[in-house]
Amino acid sequence: SHDNLILAFESSADETSASVVKNGHIILSNIVATQIASHQRFGGIVPEVASRHHLEWIDRVTQEALMQAHITDPETQLSAVAATFGPGLVGSLLIGLMAGKTFAMVHNLPFIGVNHLAGHISAANFVKATVYPAMAIMVSGGHTELVWMAKENVFQIIGTTLDDAAGEAFDKVGRILGLKYPAGKEMQEMAQKGHADIHFPIAHTEADFDFSFSGLKSAVLNYVHHEKQLDRTINKNDVAASFQKAVIEAIIEKVTLAIEKFQPQQLLLGGGVAANLALRCAVEDLAMKYQLVLTEAPIELSGDNAAMIGAAAFLAYKQKHFSGLDLNVDPSLNF
Ligand code: KG4
Ligand code: ZN
Repeated sequence: SHDNLILAFESSADETSASVVKNGHIILSNIVATQIASHQRFGGIVPEVASRHHLEWIDRVTQEALMQAHITDPETQLSAVAATFGPGLVGSLLIGLMAGKTFAMVHNLPFIGVNHLAGHISAANFVKATVYPAMAIMVSGGHTELVWMAKENVFQIIGTTLDDAAGEAFDKVGRILGLKYPAGKEMQEMAQKGHADIHFPIAHTEADFDFSFSGLKSAVLNYVHHEKQLDRTINKNDVAASFQKAVIEAIIEKVTLAIEKFQPQQLLLGGGVAANLALRCAVEDLAMKYQLVLTEAPIELSGDNAAMIGAAAFLAYKQKHFSGLDLNVDPSLNF
């Protein structure tokens, strides 16, 4: 059998990315143009600004991705073209999806629409192939999902957040502490310097595997206000450490319940928040305790990028599961 190269696009939020992935697990190129700086002064992503950036960058990242992978004759060298079609911002998704569909049409290649969440989960494939049944912990700025995978390319959400996503909580608490958006990485660095000795309660949601982070965010806000009223200076590092500890405890609690009920063979960790070293340690300890194989998305592939979309697309490609060129974006796509 010969190699299968897939050209993949990702543009669901604030990264414009194109990548060429070989056989679902070897990166030949992965170009990511980030627009974070343009959104920082607004404290979050401005959809209209994001769309314009994608439009401005999509050609350049595509050319660069093809060049780095030495693709000179797409029609013979590539096996398929893939693009994220949801979930995400409608105007942002449209740019990558249109680029992908157009490229596929012009070069007479099959097209594969990819779910962004499946992409984050599939970033683990760059480390090791998955053994099924598996359970994925998908934690990002927009999502917090526990995903059950009975077999390859089958995804079922068994737990989700009832309010804020884990990354969103990091960003909102970071904002309370005066940090720039997105605050996750800086929060982690502050947490490393602080003591987790402030008690922030974690929500015990009724449904077994669901999460809730908005109460935790309010608890931090109340604490900061309270200390200010008493004219006490807060130790931001301690707040970050205590908050991070609470988030991780909440995640581990629900994942533990899910492991015991579903008995997976393997555990996967992906999404922007999967870059968090303290979370990685906690999940590693849990996997050890239950003697589960754990595959974590590489830190540099935890955030949004097109390589992970190429990895997920390969799973569909193997099943000859192609999409029509009439595929539309689906901003609230689940699985
Ligand atoms: O997956 P991603 O790049 O975009 C979405 O699909 O949402 O995730 C971005 C999120 C942001 O909320 C960011 O603050 C968070 O991931 N994040 C982190 C860390 N690095 C990024 N959160 C905690 N610790 C980190 N080291
Ligand atoms: Zn993402």
